Amino acid sequence: MASKANRRKFLRAAGVGAAAAAAVHASVAAASAESASTAKRVKIIGISGSPRKGKTTAAALKIALEAAKAADPERIETELIELADMKLNGNMAAGIPLEPGQQDDFPELAAKLAQPEVGGVIVGSPVYFGSMTSLCKAFLDRCISLRMRRFALANKVGGAVAVGGVRNGGQELTLQAIQAALMCQEMVVVGDGRPTCHAGATVWNSGRDDISQDEFGVSTAKNLGRRVAEVALKIAGAK
Ligand SMILES: Cc1cc2nc3c(=O)[nH]c(=O)nc-3n(C[C@H](O)[C@H](O)[C@H](O)COP(=O)(O)O)c2cc1C
Repeated sequence: MASKANRRKFLRAAGVGAAAAAAVHASVAAASAESASTAKRVKIIGISGSPRKGKTTAAALKIALEAAKAADPERIETELIELADMKLNGNMAAGIPLEPGQQDDFPELAAKLAQPEVGGVIVGSPVYFGSMTSLCKAFLDRCISLRMRRFALANKVGGAVAVGGVRNGGQELTLQAIQAALMCQEMVVVGDGRPTCHAGATVWNSGRDDISQDEFGVSTAKNLGRRVAEVALKIAGAK
């Protein structure tokens, strides 16, 4: 109330009439509406490195992506990509060509990840003997071509999800292995945000291909998704 009166007093003193003040108010409102509508949209992509489509790793990533979207529904767009749907030849990372007739889907995926509107990538893998799956590793190895293309993933936010069949089955080792590869891309690696706030999403497939009973793991997936979105939005805003 007092500040409104002070503002009127200031505008009168400055020789600004009511109509002019209204015009100023309207133009400020229009400018903020315009900046809100032109505020950069940011895409967060989740990549499941499970050979089993639609199972627990995909479920954990969906939870993370929903939380990312909830961070700013107007600006965040999400997409889940399942490597189980693709043909990825890991050896090509070392320059070994495909056999005649062999299919490889990496170039299309690489082009999608390199798009400037992609602000974050969350890589998820089941824990296989204390580390990521060979499918997830093949994908991360193939990303060497993005590194060679002037670090096309640089400054995109990276997060990791690991789902194991036991509570302490190597989720953190798996997260570290994924994160090491993301750091080689000059990505900005983050963990799960507050209040859990550790290395990323550590999820336990505690039922029969069901993670919903793992309250703690689900909360790490949510906190990871939100954190990736928050940092990606900050980076997009700073550009
Ligand atoms: C070859 C293999 C190795 C596994 N090794 C581990 C392990 O070391 N630690 C663990 O917690 N779970 C292990 N698991 C269980 C899977 O990580 C678990 O079932 C996970 O939820 C599978 O993910 P998905 O549902 O996305 O396929 C292993 C499973 C397979 C097939």
